[in-house]
Amino acid sequence: SSDLPGDLAKMLVSEEQIRARLAEMARQIEADYEGKDLLLVGVLKGAVMVMADLARELKRHIDMDWMAVSSYGTSTQSSGVVRILKDLDTEIAGRNVLIVEDIIDSGLTLSWLLENFASRGPASVEVCALLRKPDAAKVHIDVKYAGFEIPNDFVVGYGLDYAEKYRNLRGVGVLAPHVYE
Ligand code: PRP
Ligand code: MN
Ligand code: MG
Repeated sequence: SSDLPGDLAKMLVSEEQIRARLAEMARQIEADYEGKDLLLVGVLKGAVMVMADLARELKRHIDMDWMAVSSYGTSTQSSGVVRILKDLDTEIAGRNVLIVEDIIDSGLTLSWLLENFASRGPASVEVCALLRKPDAAKVHIDVKYAGFEIPNDFVVGYGLDYAEKYRNLRGVGVLAPHVYE
């Protein structure tokens, strides 16, 4: 089964902690974009849960769009070269874009995405990420809205997968080594 507690070595961020932190981040976003247009762009598939909860926490109008990307390279080593599997449906020229991510690991996906978006002439582009692994960073990403810093462990849940499983866990936990060893 995909959600056996035995599959996790430990819980890192609980459902309640995520809810509380997203509420704080939403208040900050509301203040920063007051009176301005705002387009949230979720990065499929990991960002689905953060997008759903953050968007519903925002007490204002927003637009929502999605991007699906895949990084070239082996399964364990990202190359930083990204292929677009699904592009935005909307033009972002002149718009305020907030990229919504579940996690920043090496930073390579977002680094590519930020450069790609910049070439489309948006009014602004910022990043909102629930999780960040400082010890795994290969490139620096300016994250305006960051939820939690976590250790460089194999984490799953709340959108994050291992071989497409565990995305539906309500919190984020460290995958038990017996699952992948
Ligand atoms: C994961 C995660 C981020 C990215 C972070 O997505 O959701 O998008 O990796 O890694 P990076 O900072 O090293 O680039 P993944 O490519 O596994 O696709 P998924 O969202 O469909 O699971
Ligand atoms: Mn992802
Ligand atoms: Mg993944």
